[in-house]
Amino acid sequence: MARNARPVPPDVRGTQGVARFRFALLAAALLAATLAARPAEPTTPPSMLMAFDARARALVKRMTLAEKVGQMTQADQQFIRDPADVENLFLGSVLSGGDSDPPRGNTLEAWRGLYESLQERTRRTRLRIPLLYGIDAVHGNSNVLGAVIFPHNVGLGATRNPRLVRRIAEITAAETRAIGVNWTFAPCVCVPRDIRWGRSYEGFSEDPEIVSLLGAAAVRGLQGRTLRGPLSVAATPKHFVGDGGTLAGTGVEKGLDQGDARMDEETLQRVHLYPYRAAIDAGAATIMPSYSSWNGIKVTGDRRLLTEVLKEEMGFDGFLISDYNAVDQVHPDYKTAIGMSVNAGIDMVMVPDRYREFIQLLTELVNERRVPMARIDDAVTRILRVKLAMGLMEPRYDFRADPALERGFGGAEHRAVARQAVRESMVLLKNAHHVLPLSKSARRIHVAGKSADDLGNQAGGWTITWQGKSGPVSPGGTTILAALRRAAPGTEITYSPDASGAAGADAVVVVIGEAPYAEMKGDRHDLSLDKTDLAAVDNARAAGIPVIVVLVSGRPMILGRALDQADAFLAAWLPGTEGDGVADVLFGDYAPTGRLPYTWPRSMDQLPLGASTTAPLFPLGHGLTYQPPPRMSRSR
Ligand code: GLC
Repeated sequence: MARNARPVPPDVRGTQGVARFRFALLAAALLAATLAARPAEPTTPPSMLMAFDARARALVKRMTLAEKVGQMTQADQQFIRDPADVENLFLGSVLSGGDSDPPRGNTLEAWRGLYESLQERTRRTRLRIPLLYGIDAVHGNSNVLGAVIFPHNVGLGATRNPRLVRRIAEITAAETRAIGVNWTFAPCVCVPRDIRWGRSYEGFSEDPEIVSLLGAAAVRGLQGRTLRGPLSVAATPKHFVGDGGTLAGTGVEKGLDQGDARMDEETLQRVHLYPYRAAIDAGAATIMPSYSSWNGIKVTGDRRLLTEVLKEEMGFDGFLISDYNAVDQVHPDYKTAIGMSVNAGIDMVMVPDRYREFIQLLTELVNERRVPMARIDDAVTRILRVKLAMGLMEPRYDFRADPALERGFGGAEHRAVARQAVRESMVLLKNAHHVLPLSKSARRIHVAGKSADDLGNQAGGWTITWQGKSGPVSPGGTTILAALRRAAPGTEITYSPDASGAAGADAVVVVIGEAPYAEMKGDRHDLSLDKTDLAAVDNARAAGIPVIVVLVSGRPMILGRALDQADAFLAAWLPGTEGDGVADVLFGDYAPTGRLPYTWPRSMDQLPLGASTTAPLFPLGHGLTYQPPPRMSRSR
């Protein structure tokens, strides 16, 4: 399916209007009663963005309607029909969504050339307002070949280490600015409560406290202290709000993604909205509202959530960027959908390909007084506050990428941090008879499993392409098999995907799990290990030697007999390019410290979280480490 041809969830079209209106009335009444009873939340003090408010407002006063509407428009570079649209339509932003590589190919030079050529176009406009160029640098600058690919957020959640997450975000920002790009649609601060959701690996945890802690650390790492540093990029906590709390069956193709979060406001606030407070306190410049709905109302068109709660009560001073064609889902009529979304509080619209039509329709809506000029001015003021805070409007501002950043791109220093993140993300679930750590003086270790020698499986979705893909996905990475061989040069390390030939080795390591996916493509009704993986573990067990299973997946899976057959079992999540970190734990160069960021279900009927009163297979926070070697008893 083409990237931008998105199936829409059920019940978006048709009778939504009347039902929604009744529901909205009831919800509003309930809410009013609730709010009246509750002391108003202390509002967040103005952010540092407000220091630029006066300059932003003065600039808005000088702008034409065409210039204002242009600033609110974000087109995808792959759909820009004529580069002159940048200056002729006064575009405020361009993005590279998934699968939107430079026309000249996926090299650092081509990315930088694309960015600079589009930025240069803004120099030809009356006001010379530079672009914000957005990209999904969500686990490193993960679109660009050769970039360091860090563990996805699920693995970072297992580390519980905000300092490490902040450092990872700083490196991500540096490798993003290396191509000139100055904005990333990260961190995802969703709180997944049903791991059947295909975006669970983009979440740090099911626990809002963990998400809040690590999400704020990521914002600080991406933006730096003042947003205007040479290594800063604008951050985008996403997807506001409740994207991780949707009900199975209400999403795209009856899945969970983009579905309906059905809960009262107290639950929404306590679980899903909670991480946004810390993200705003950390100075987040932008926030991305969700495709999903709350009690039947699309968040992208929900004024209560976007304006009253997020902007007024929580004091968010940055701007809201809608998700990829998310505005289209707010109402069957596109012009009405635009009006509803902008009036609800959307400040910039991600309208990858229909940007000319969008500009025309929003201009009509303003002229017809269906969108007040005050709303337009507020949106553009918010956008300009961010651009001013980033230094984009200074006379000396040089939009070109700093060539010096190329030297560190994908370099050893960055990879060392990623390796440390992999080490700390590993969760030891089981270690019978202390079969781990492995010995580097072993004569032979056999390795098996579909993901033992597969960088693409290690990296998961949002890697080079939108969905990611199995195989040698990017240069510069190290598979787990290669890492084991490098760690123990004196040991014969043999390999077969199905574990054939394992007999006679000192131990067998079976690396299994999930192939890459992203968004709705990862929604599953069944999280059981596949037959190939189960067969590999069966064969390993039949070899009669210690069996170590390493699971490379975006979430806990239903392990079945594989757990019983394994002597030791490690969850590696989606570790990214630095497989050495896995070898470090297997050989004991780093004793595992990771703790489960998600409850591990015993069976599918224990999903969503809380659905069952029986004990899970492993609780949130579970994680073993290596026992110190037994102390030799002193001879008498
Ligand atoms: C996607 C995702 C969002 C991403 C955006 C731009 O559909 O929902 O997380 O940032 O489009 O690629």
